[in-house]
Amino acid sequence: MIRSFSDFPLRKQHTFGTEATARHYFEFTETEDLQGYIETSTDWKKLPVLILGEGSNLLFVNDFPGLIINPNIPGITIVHEDRSNIWLEAGAGVVWDDLVEYAVFNRWGGIENLSLIPGKVGAAAVQNIGAYGTEIQHRIESVTGFDLETQTEYTIDAADCQYAYRNSIFKNELKNRFIITSVNFKLDKFPEFILNYGDLKAETEKLGDITLRNIRKAVIRIRESKLPDPKIYGNAGSFFMNPVVESSAAEQLLKVHPAMPHYPAPDGRTKLAAGWLIEQCGWKGFRRGDAGVHEKQALVLVNYGNASGKEIFDLSEEIRQSVFSKFGVTLNREVNVISD
Ligand code: FAD
Ligand code: EPU
Repeated sequence: MIRSFSDFPLRKQHTFGTEATARHYFEFTETEDLQGYIETSTDWKKLPVLILGEGSNLLFVNDFPGLIINPNIPGITIVHEDRSNIWLEAGAGVVWDDLVEYAVFNRWGGIENLSLIPGKVGAAAVQNIGAYGTEIQHRIESVTGFDLETQTEYTIDAADCQYAYRNSIFKNELKNRFIITSVNFKLDKFPEFILNYGDLKAETEKLGDITLRNIRKAVIRIRESKLPDPKIYGNAGSFFMNPVVESSAAEQLLKVHPAMPHYPAPDGRTKLAAGWLIEQCGWKGFRRGDAGVHEKQALVLVNYGNASGKEIFDLSEEIRQSVFSKFGVTLNREVNVISD
């Protein structure tokens, strides 16, 4: 099935819920539909392209003057299994949390800590989604997609996806060029649970035995207590990434701010908590018009109704500036800002 429109309103296509339009919009459910479109239309050659999932990590500052391509490919299939593991292939358009629910229901472990993260499977592999002590890179075997530049379909092994904290090859050299159509995952039949993040262990124990189902329930409870539901207040989760700084810089900051949360980063540097830094600058709960900072999580910017993308973007820049002035730390955006 395909859906193709011009001057397409985007408000319902992204979770910030701001007004914007796309000059052209093309959604498909089978890779052959995309190949047909590429052969018959020239729009994608002349115009900027944006690949869209559920729009839960995007901020449109302006109307999008190009072509939006939405690979809404459904389906979860079992590729292979042995005594210990199961390999699944999921279409790029599968709702991420539907895949988690399916895995937990079948008692296959590895992605339960990533429960309730919004978005689609395709984008999960782009963003290297992470939460509660794990990242999806550890469960991805390979990623298949269609390269607009070479007009070929190919598969990339996880080892070649350049995965890092909220980063991958798909956010860099293959950005808006490689349309992910499916992702292969490897899950465990005898999972080892990851419970060392924050209150996760304690919250799971409150529910009874430590099982995949109870971990999923606990993650959902914690998330619902902190993060705004985009169906109620437009948002895109953490607006910024947690900054990773040299350990010597973190030590200097800790002398002045001994309560500052900090964690070892894989490369010997130190990760700081952007939410804490922003809260210390006084932004938590701030609201100007309909653009604001969530009252329970300062890392989440919110559209309380009719904020424009520009108002949210301007607020984010003020926040970034004030964190730099107070702490000398630069915040990099996690949200993909779409502007001219
Ligand atoms: P989109 O926002 O549509 O796209 C994201 C990026 O991926 C864009 O650059 C887009 O061009 C690209 N892209 C999308 N699909 C494809 C494809 N098929 N092929 C190639 N490129 C593609 N993220 C976390 O990591 N951890 C969290 O805990 C978390 N919590 C969140 C909580 C809330 C309330 C919200 C609103 C967001 C949260 N996020 C979190 C961010 C977001 O859910 C993830 O980044 C998610 O993977 C985005 O999926 P999407 O389908 O909405 O992608
Ligand atoms: N904190 C504050 N004030 C705040 C928010 C947080 O002081 O307003 C402190 C907390 O007290 C804690 C620390 O900051 O000491 C970390 O907070 P939290 O556990 O809520 O996690 P986070 O670093 O703010 C990250 C991810 C989330 C993910 C959670 C859980 C990033 C940018 N964000 O948030 O991912 O769900 O950890 O693992 O890495 C997302 O990417 O969109 C997202 C929501």
